[in-house]
Amino acid sequence: MKPIGPVNALYPMPTTLVGATVNGKANFLAVAHVGILNHGSPQYLSIGLHASHYTNAGIHAQRTFSICLPAEDLLVETDFCGIMTGKNTDKAALFEVFHGELETAPMIRQCPVNMELKLHQVLKLGAHEIFIGELVQTYADEGVLTEGKIDMARLRPLLFDMAGKRYWSLGKAVGHCWSAGKALKKTAR
Ligand SMILES: Cc1cc2nc3c(=O)[nH]c(=O)nc-3n(C[C@H](O)[C@H](O)[C@H](O)COP(=O)(O)O)c2cc1C
Repeated sequence: MKPIGPVNALYPMPTTLVGATVNGKANFLAVAHVGILNHGSPQYLSIGLHASHYTNAGIHAQRTFSICLPAEDLLVETDFCGIMTGKNTDKAALFEVFHGELETAPMIRQCPVNMELKLHQVLKLGAHEIFIGELVQTYADEGVLTEGKIDMARLRPLLFDMAGKRYWSLGKAVGHCWSAGKALKKTAR
């Protein structure tokens, strides 16, 4: 194995659109650095935003934000939200915006899945602010659900790779979790 330096190799990541109300208006930015911090109750998710972004002030002020999942068909709009800043561009004008329970976490009707969160904690790490949110509600287009659950094959998430600076699509399922490994149980020492 060849050492290649401290390269963060945790890609691909889902590409998301994070929404917040900034200065009274909805704004969205592309965010790939998302985390799952407590898979249980409550559910805590994180987003890492560079402190220079326009969106941060809105999350601090309203203490709410959304994490919206664009599908492959929203690639161009998503990338635009990762190139342009809400400081001088109305990115929300690209979308049909809706609000849920929290009222100040704007979400996108063209995204098949949208999550709204209330701010739990902010960590300052280097040049980034890590916003930890408690998941309050998830909204899904019925077209991406199979037996009430989000179906990856229907969702067609937009995957992000930092090394190649490319978007990828999901391949096919190759096995069942918490199940495939049982095949080695008989021979385990
Ligand atoms: C695919 C993609 C993923 C991105 N992920 C992040 C991220 O995880 N964190 C971050 O701070 N910026 C990320 N960015 C950059 C911001 O989306 C971008 O700087 C945006 O213009 C900031 O918008 P705002 O100033 O309206 O808040 C990403 C950009 C792209 C294209």
